[in-house]
Amino acid sequence: EKVLRVALAGCGVVGGGVLERLLRDARFEVVGVLVRNPDRARQTAIPAGLALTDPAALLAREPDVLVEAISDASTGLALIRAALTRGVDVVSANKQAVGGDLPALTALAASTGARLLYSASVGGGAPLIETVRRAKAHGPVVRIEAVLNGTCNFILNRLADGVAFDEALNAAQKAGFAEEDPTADLSGQDAAAKLAILAHEALDGGLSPDRIGRDILSAVTIPDGKRVRQVSSLDVRSGHVGVAFLDADGDPLFANLADEWNALRVTTEDGRNFIAKGRGAGRLPTTTSVWADLSELVTITDCAGAARRRTSA
Ligand code: HSE
Repeated sequence: EKVLRVALAGCGVVGGGVLERLLRDARFEVVGVLVRNPDRARQTAIPAGLALTDPAALLAREPDVLVEAISDASTGLALIRAALTRGVDVVSANKQAVGGDLPALTALAASTGARLLYSASVGGGAPLIETVRRAKAHGPVVRIEAVLNGTCNFILNRLADGVAFDEALNAAQKAGFAEEDPTADLSGQDAAAKLAILAHEALDGGLSPDRIGRDILSAVTIPDGKRVRQVSSLDVRSGHVGVAFLDADGDPLFANLADEWNALRVTTEDGRNFIAKGRGAGRLPTTTSVWADLSELVTITDCAGAARRRTSA
């Protein structure tokens, strides 16, 4: 059976979780791990000889697949492009990198025959991308409404319980929900990149993240009988990430959403709703989602190998 050679970029909350699983699974061989600082203490230690700081050196180790789990948009995007150009499959959890340029990346992947999978970039462990695809297969999508940032949802629930804003943010960072620079969460930039990815799935032509309007989340006072949510919405022409005041006994999908959960409602032209929710942030749910993509690649690779063996027999 073929062992898949994996290059891992990033060894933080998500990358570290993926590394731990890769090292325990005989179907994979880790050929290199790209990090900024090889000497930093980590929850999962990087085996000797694997830590690299140069993206080119990572791809020079000739992986079959690149798992890209870094937080920086431009480094991630350059690496994804380089891998796809070489025909290397990519699994990415980096919404800023994927969301910034998905139509071009999809075209690049198609031109070299490489596969680009990005389930973990939106919704953590919740199948949000998959739900949009299911809706689209049913009929034209006219509207998406979603809570796409676990950190904001977590903070807003804590504020409603009387916890101070900074303390709530601190707890979200400690739990591994927030981005390395949490400004991306609070400014709506994180949710906007995710909405752009969903737009690409839902609409022909997609929607560029810089055309998505955003409200910045700061300390809000929550009126009695209300819940505050950061809601991302998309209609066929435009997108918006906004801070919304909902009635506490209103729309249960959003108003009752716990902790770092994400939720999504997709409406098709005939009025049908497709719904999904689940843990949207954190090490375990996001790692599980990367793992689902990797398992899909293993299956595809095995099938392709089996087909080749049959043809040559
Ligand atoms: N910072 C992100 C969030 C992580 O809070 O939703 C998951 O993409």
